[in-house]
Amino acid sequence: MKYSEVGKPAQQVDTAGKENKMNVPNHVAIILDGNGRWAKAKGMPRSYGHVKGCANLETICDDMKALGVKYLTVYAFSTENWKRSKEEVDGLMKLFRNYLKKCIKISEKNKMCVRVIGDIHAFDSDIQESIQRLEEYSKDFTELHFQIALNYGGRDEITRGIRRLAQDVKDGKIAPEAISEELVEGYWDTAGLPDPDLLIRTSGEQRLSNFLPWQLAYTEFYFTPVAWPDFNREELVKAIEKYNERDRRYGGVKEE
Ligand code: IPE
Ligand code: IPE
Ligand code: MG
Repeated sequence: MKYSEVGKPAQQVDTAGKENKMNVPNHVAIILDGNGRWAKAKGMPRSYGHVKGCANLETICDDMKALGVKYLTVYAFSTENWKRSKEEVDGLMKLFRNYLKKCIKISEKNKMCVRVIGDIHAFDSDIQESIQRLEEYSKDFTELHFQIALNYGGRDEITRGIRRLAQDVKDGKIAPEAISEELVEGYWDTAGLPDPDLLIRTSGEQRLSNFLPWQLAYTEFYFTPVAWPDFNREELVKAIEKYNERDRRYGGVKEE
């Protein structure tokens, strides 16, 4: 590497040659992991990692749009993340507050429709109101569909969905024989969205941690040791290149 390139923001790396040849996934899901360890490695508090991770979310939306990805779903706070220290959870809530307000402008800039998935009732009322305002403001944008999973857990989503479905059956709106895969999907937080084509998890862990267990049934997985705050366009292009090498058979047999 030339000295002049040291410290050059990775977003400026020219990936255009590769990008032009890629088959871009329609829907990318990302488990934004590694903020805390990334910060610790720099001798900084975990909260610093969350701030940088949040800033990276803005950049990645620009990159997704530029590459032609139509749907992006990110895992930002799980139903299990409440177990963390009060200090860390409070810091994350503060970040969400700021980000959700800022996201109105980002949605306008990228013409992106923003939707929050997860049980938002657990959040303070001002956060819930910011979510509603953002969703309402951005609902007609179609360039990018951006889903943020907040207080999301796949098992919780399925449990809440079944509860509503059971009520509809009890009320006589749905006959038990009419329950199909298509019908139950309509009860998940992701109703109406296509399933992810590519799942990326940063920072080396190779597990789902309760993210989209139903929706990821036929998704291609990509795990990278890169921590979320360092995951940039170049890394995204690498992930999409790997996705391009996959042979998606959906249980069938590839024709010779
Ligand atoms: C992901 O980073 C962000 C959230 C879960 C909120 P982590 O906070 O999990 O960072 P690590 O995995 O501990 O490094
Ligand atoms: C999953 O990461 C949740 C989010 C990225 C929001 P965690 O860091 O909470 O998951 P585990 O604890 O490593 O499984
Ligand atoms: Mg983690």
